[in-house]
Amino acid sequence: MLIDSHAHTTDAHFDTDRQEVLNRAFNSGLKYILEVGCEPPLWDKVAELSKQEKIYSMFGLHPQDADKFNEELFNKLKCLLSDKKCVAVGEIGLDYHYENYNRQLQKEIFVKQINLALEINKPICVHCRDAYDDMITVFKEFKSLPKGVIHCFSGSYEQAKVVLDMGFLIGIDGPCTYPKSNKLKRVIENVPLEKILVETDCPYLAPQKYRGTRNEPSYVTEVAKKIAEIKVLPFEEVCNITANNTIELYNLK
Ligand code: NI
Repeated sequence: MLIDSHAHTTDAHFDTDRQEVLNRAFNSGLKYILEVGCEPPLWDKVAELSKQEKIYSMFGLHPQDADKFNEELFNKLKCLLSDKKCVAVGEIGLDYHYENYNRQLQKEIFVKQINLALEINKPICVHCRDAYDDMITVFKEFKSLPKGVIHCFSGSYEQAKVVLDMGFLIGIDGPCTYPKSNKLKRVIENVPLEKILVETDCPYLAPQKYRGTRNEPSYVTEVAKKIAEIKVLPFEEVCNITANNTIELYNLK
């Protein structure tokens, strides 16, 4: 049993062959795909896609789009989050990769959406790029936090320990298969498998075997293989436990 816990198959890169890609994933043994709607122009497309069996959704406003926030959009988000196939608020968070991003605004929108998740009792899927210390500071301001995952984890093992202590899981993606991923390999070695989800974040971050091409949900196998190799565990065990972690976190049926 294997689950791609974070995919963007509604991305335009899949417009010509989306259903083939999804069929390939399910034929290769994937149990579920979690489709992430974090850009308002794609929200409806994600809601439509998640009507398919074995596809669940989550909705949120990505930190890169923090400046698009307004009350009308927030109300639409609340409405989408009430969909029966929607399992989480995400991806939400902080992204300091580019200098011109408004960090203060990102924090405000992040906090707003964490509060929303608490209000509706759903977990969060967190995007964090070059902002781990600030993300942890934001979390510390909450008396209680929702359950959730730090998706596409790229922090240090020390930062992983802090978020695990706060009750979060971490999501591992294609970069763990890259030759220069020593920091991430150390994280995988030391974090218990019960705290790990596997994901593709497709269409980006294709695993080494497919690097430079479009990533897709069926390639999540490569991530599970690499974790099995690093942790010296049977591949099947990595698939089953990470899938169970996903089912439990997102309360999948
Ligand atoms: Ni993503």
